This record gives sequence, structure tokens and C-alpha cells, in this order.
Amino acid sequence: MGRTAPGPFVPPLIGNTLQFARDPLQFYVDTAARYGDIARIGLMGRTCFLLNHPDHVRHVLQGRVDNYVKSSSYRELARLLGNGLLTSEGALWKRHRRVIQPAFHRKSLDQLVDTMFACADEAGEAVAQRTGGVADISAACMQASLSIVGRALFGTGLGHRAQEVEQAIRASLVYINARAEAPYPLPYRIPTPRKRAFEQGRARLDALVQAIIAERRRADHPGDDLLGMLLTATDEDGQGLSDEELRDEVLTMVGAGYETTATTLSWTLAFLSEHAAVRERAEQAAERAWNDADRRRAVLADDVLDRVLKESMRLRPPVWSITRLAVEDDAMGGYAVPAGSVAIVSPYLAHRDARYWANPEGFDLDHFAPEVVKDRDRQAYLPFGAGQRKCIGERMAMMEMKVILARLLVAFRLDLIPGKRPVPAPSIVLRPAEPLLMRVSKR
Ligand code: HEM
Repeated sequence: MGRTAPGPFVPPLIGNTLQFARDPLQFYVDTAARYGDIARIGLMGRTCFLLNHPDHVRHVLQGRVDNYVKSSSYRELARLLGNGLLTSEGALWKRHRRVIQPAFHRKSLDQLVDTMFACADEAGEAVAQRTGGVADISAACMQASLSIVGRALFGTGLGHRAQEVEQAIRASLVYINARAEAPYPLPYRIPTPRKRAFEQGRARLDALVQAIIAERRRADHPGDDLLGMLLTATDEDGQGLSDEELRDEVLTMVGAGYETTATTLSWTLAFLSEHAAVRERAEQAAERAWNDADRRRAVLADDVLDRVLKESMRLRPPVWSITRLAVEDDAMGGYAVPAGSVAIVSPYLAHRDARYWANPEGFDLDHFAPEVVKDRDRQAYLPFGAGQRKCIGERMAMMEMKVILARLLVAFRLDLIPGKRPVPAPSIVLRPAEPLLMRVSKR
């Protein structure tokens, strides 16, 4: 088995939950600094191991995937998303991943590029209305990314249903996020006003998505969008997805693809406002690409925009903690990892490890220079996770973020309001604690 891993004193029952709840990010950073590559802590009544070495990350997410399954924290998400790709396990997950994967291949995504540019334009127009004043950048980015996911899934978009879907998602996420942030969430069965709002939102979402699916099943042609693909896709045995499975996958795509991309954009614009030289470089790159005869290709292939987004996700990875439950006794780095304990991989922690990053707290595009990337352990950077459960939407996310970022940088100068540096709130997604407000001037 192995020795007991080092770690802080774990008080009975409450464990380290209170320290964690005070500031989860700092707790991870301090614990790793003090105890090293594997630290034993107690959270939510379980023994957990905070992993801080690429070898351990590989072991859990790639090597022993049979032994490390999605832990209970994904059950909270499943209340909203059902049993879709993000939350499911085993044979069901494998079958669905195989069926859905082609929708995220380069060729399928190429069909979405015009939509991405159109949604970026809408975001640009919303921000333009605030020229000379202050714009809610989080809202503009949320709107754009929701429109893109909506149109990717449902083709022409949600049309008159868009606002209803958005409100239902937002209402549901308030509750799920609050539960994720609470050190001791109330048992799920206890009714609270937030829970009622969640249940109503979830029921509305269910009904909306079910209605869309039913309409499509009745239509002559399934449609060229993601939903159309999912409706007709089958596995090797010729089996397709049931209505319920479809609904869960649709909700999962929206849930997993919406806040993650939008927050990355918000953080990116905030970082650029604080780093004038990098911003200038990004603006020039955006302008060059935008004015290229082949704008679509040039924006998507731009290396500076790529690095800016990657550096932003290094410092503010939207998914800041990835957890897995150990099914059987195991060992890592010579330490015992008993069955029933939780392995924690934190991109937030990995991304500021001075062994792998020359300038951990800076905003430094050299971190993603090809020669530097080549020499760095691949698992030192994992905003999209790793192994077989890696994000299916990575390429799509990078594409849409580049398009929206380029559109905004070409048209505007966005500046943080003095004294209003956004503070990270580690909810399900690592988002700014308050909506990101920025001053808008024309470039
Ligand atoms: C910046 C944007 C995004 C980030 C940082 C991100 C991050 C992640 C991470 C870290 C995981 C792995 C979770 C784990 O191992 O437990 C994941 C999984 C997933 N993501 Fe993303 N994601 C993003 C955008 C998207 C988009 C746009 C979509 C779809 C439209 C999407 C759909 C999914 C799905 C379905 C999974 C589950 C995959 C599976 O288990 O097979 N994500 N994402």
C-alpha cells in the first residue's frame, strides 16, 4: 500500500472544510507549498489527496482511469445537466462520447465559423452602445457564448425561446453555484426559495428542450446542426439516443460550454487592461487578422490571440478543480490512496507551479512560445482536463473565444474601472466575484 501522505491536521468530522471554505484557491496553494506533490486533507467528510505533480495527474486522469471515477461533486452538476457526457460514467459515457465526438471534429466546427462571427458582432454591437461609458462585459460575453452554443445545437438558434432558455439557465445555476460554494450545503431535500427557483428553472429547461426535440423528430429533415446530428447518430449496433438521453446531452453542452467560455473572455479582457504592452500586441494582431483578405482563417490561426487566451486560462482556469473518486486501494508517489478517497487535480495549482512556469504570477505570452511548450511537461497545463474525459468542446471554445476577442479588440479599448480589480470566486467555474464592468472607448 504505502505510507500515509503528509498533510495538515484533519479535525474529526469537519476536517479542513472551514479552512478550505475561507479561500479554496489559497488553501490549495498553501497546502501544496507546505506538503509537496501529494497532500492528505479532509473535505466534506472524505479523505482527499491534493495532487501537485504531472505524474500524479497522469496516473489519475490517464493511467488508472478504471480506478478513478467522477466523484460526488459531479452529482450536484447532474441535478441540472442530468446524465450527459460530463456527469456520466462507464459504458453509457463511452457510447455517448463515440456518438457525439464527430460533431466536434474540425470539419463540423468549420460550419459554425460564420455563426461565431455573427454572434461576436452582436456582442460588439452591445458593447458599442456603451461607448464613452461603462459596459457589463460579463453579460456581453455570456450572451455571445450562449448564442453560439444555442445556434450550434439548434441551428437557427433558439429564436423566441432564447431569452427563456437563458433565464432558466441562469436561475438554475444560481442554486447549483451556491451549493458548490457552501462549505456545508443543506441536504438537497430541504426546500428553500433558491431551490424552488432552481426546480422551476430546471423544469422550464426540460420542457423547452423536450419541445425542440419533439418538433425535430416530426420534421422531414433532422437539420444540419448539432441536434440534427445527435438525432441521427448511431453507435456500431445501430442504436441512437433516446429523447431523454438527447435532452441530457443538450443541457450538458449548454451547461458545460456557456459559462466556461464567457468567463475566460471576461478574465482575458481584464488581464489585457492591466498589461498595456500585451494589450497593444494583441490589438495589433487582432487588427491584422481582421483586415486579412481571409479574415476567418486569419483570426482562427492567430498565434498572439491563441497565447493570450491560453495565458488567461493559465492564471484563471475556469475549471479550477477536477476530482475523482478512488474505487479501490491504490498508491501514488509511495503514499497510500485508500478506496473511497478523492483525488483532487487543480489546474489552478498546476498552472502556477514555479517548476514549470518561468513567470508564474505574470501575464507572459512567452509561456506559450513553441520552444517553451515543447520542453514543458504536457500535464503542467490542463485547462481542458486530460485523458479520455478531456473536454470535448476544446476546439470549439478556442475558436469562438478567438473570434469574440478579435472583434472586441479591433473596435474597442476596454479598461478596468480604477480600484475595481476583479476578484476570483471559485464557484463551479472560476468567475469574477462581481459582474465585470469596464470603461469603453473607441479605438
Ligand atoms: C474555455 C472553455 C472550456 C473549458 C475551460 C472547459 C473545461 C473542461 C474540463 C476541464 C473538462 C473535464 C472535466 C473533468 O475531467 O472532470 C471538460 C469536459 C467537458 N466539456 Fe468543456 N470546457 C470548455 C468549453 C466547452 C464547450 C464549448 C463545450 C461544448 C459545447 C464543452 C463541453 C464539455 C463536455 C461535454 C465535457 C465532458 C466530456 C466527457 O467527459 O466526455 N466544454 N471541459
